[in-house]
Amino acid sequence: MCGIIGVIGDKAVERVMNGLIALEYRGYDSAGIAVKKDSKIKVYKATGEVKNVISLVFKDIDSLKDSKIAIGHTRWATHGKPCNENAHPHTDEDSTIAIIHNGIIENYLTLKKELLEKGYNFSSETDSEVIAHLIADKFKKHKDFQIAFHQAVLELQGTFAILCINNKENRIYFAKLVNPLVIGIGVGNNSDNYYCSSDMASMSTLKLTNKFIILEDNEYGFIDAKDGIKVFDISGNSLKTKQVIETKFHYTQADKSNYDYFMLKEIKEIPEVIPNAFASDVSDVLSAIDSSNNIYITACGTSYHAALVAKYVFNKVCRRDVHVYHSSEYVYLNPANANDLLIAISQSGETLDTLTAVKNAKRKGVKIVSLTNHYGSSISRESDLQLYMNSGPEISVVATKTYIAQLIILYKIAFSLVNNSAELEKLKEFREIVGNFLKNNNSLTNVEKIAKELKSENDFYFIGRGLSYPTALEAALKLKEISYKHAEAFPAGELKHGPLSLITDKATVIAISPSDSLVKKIESNILECKSRGAKIVTVTDNQDVVKLSNYSIVMEMIPELFSPISYIVPLQYFAYRMTVENNLNPDKPRNLAKSVTVE
Ligand code: F6R
Repeated sequence: MCGIIGVIGDKAVERVMNGLIALEYRGYDSAGIAVKKDSKIKVYKATGEVKNVISLVFKDIDSLKDSKIAIGHTRWATHGKPCNENAHPHTDEDSTIAIIHNGIIENYLTLKKELLEKGYNFSSETDSEVIAHLIADKFKKHKDFQIAFHQAVLELQGTFAILCINNKENRIYFAKLVNPLVIGIGVGNNSDNYYCSSDMASMSTLKLTNKFIILEDNEYGFIDAKDGIKVFDISGNSLKTKQVIETKFHYTQADKSNYDYFMLKEIKEIPEVIPNAFASDVSDVLSAIDSSNNIYITACGTSYHAALVAKYVFNKVCRRDVHVYHSSEYVYLNPANANDLLIAISQSGETLDTLTAVKNAKRKGVKIVSLTNHYGSSISRESDLQLYMNSGPEISVVATKTYIAQLIILYKIAFSLVNNSAELEKLKEFREIVGNFLKNNNSLTNVEKIAKELKSENDFYFIGRGLSYPTALEAALKLKEISYKHAEAFPAGELKHGPLSLITDKATVIAISPSDSLVKKIESNILECKSRGAKIVTVTDNQDVVKLSNYSIVMEMIPELFSPISYIVPLQYFAYRMTVENNLNPDKPRNLAKSVTVE
């Protein structure tokens, strides 16, 4: 979702433009830049891709290139459609102040009404524009920008990460509540440069810095080329001891290399992700699980499906029941208690639903373990124990390699809890098993052929039993989110309780059917669908199943417990191929964002 970047120092405009490109992965529909130049603020905005606003800035680049202050924003529309007026930055009426904002100002209608009554004119439908006019109003009264900014922030309700510049000072003001915001400190020759961003990844990708201050809720302050960084608590007390962290995370892989899309590159990286994830030290988590009454897992989307796999695996391997909740529902039930453990799974570490679930649980004294791919992310910072996927950056909006990393770590925990070193060894073999599939031209060509032949179908039903049910859910999510095909998943045993009425000759049924103890049951489900005219695709290692199918993706035979790890990979590739066959961009699905920072 919305991305924020601010630069004080050399090449500010160029760096903000590159910053917007680095933030594109979060998902957006318009973008904008504000530059302070000779006591004037110039604003550039455009809908569509970041390159549109960059080409506007380039028309003025000669006059802007010496500027030392710039802020930029990628907007993901919430209040008001994507258009130039609603794009950020927003300014006050005289264009002496420019702000960019992530989050939602919940009391914006009240504030807007008061400001309209005072005679301020608005030019957008957004909640964010009130911030610019509110600061202008406070400045009129206090004549001191720092006080005006603080007073305005005190009146905002909701969630926000805000950057603000004015035409007089060489400063970028910032404020944070819930939405992430970090300060970067220039290194080497750039030690008098300062940066602000909604994530560390954008700054690391640009190699601007690996030194960060992470802002906490209700903190505000400014960066200033002369005065450095000043952070205050909500009461205005200066916070002198903010910790500077140096990231261990290297973002060097964040380019497409020779691949057409990040999604394909990231699927191909899965074999490498497996040993990296396996290397995670889970020992503290094992002790925490041993000393907890109940284990809960909360997550959204793909991460939720990894949690569901863990539910089955923990049940089978350790005979422990794991309670799995969508984070967006966890918050209404808040079921874990003190002496329980909550594992929060989130690739981004920023998903607001999951963050809120974690905060709610913490208030009840629940111990929190996070599993994220981002060091220093909001969710990892809220946790007592942190696990990292170590998967390198995942740029495509859809999660692929990080799903596998999540599974590897969750399996590792389960096997380690019962000291099953033989199964742990088998887990490592998946680097080769998945690698073999992804290197095998016949396997890939077969998936490509199936996608080509089914590209005009519109109704896909994924079925699986037991451990294959989460795989069905995840495969359906992949397909729907990037190819826009109607895709649903059911436990195969549920078909007869309703969904079977949808199965006609217009339907395609994709059955996840490894040769496990349930294979005979799923064969019956396949026959039920076949006899109603549906096209049958199977992902299987079983020749009896192949015989029932119109199309089959034949898998290497593996022990029953492990099928979620390898069986999802061809289905990720299938979703990818269906998308490109339909001339859509798998990396940037409509309406979706990589980092979901609204509830
Ligand atoms: C699916 C996808 C989303 C995310 C979900 C949670 O491909 O990317 O469903 O899985 O938004 O995101 P994280 O894991 O960052 O909390």
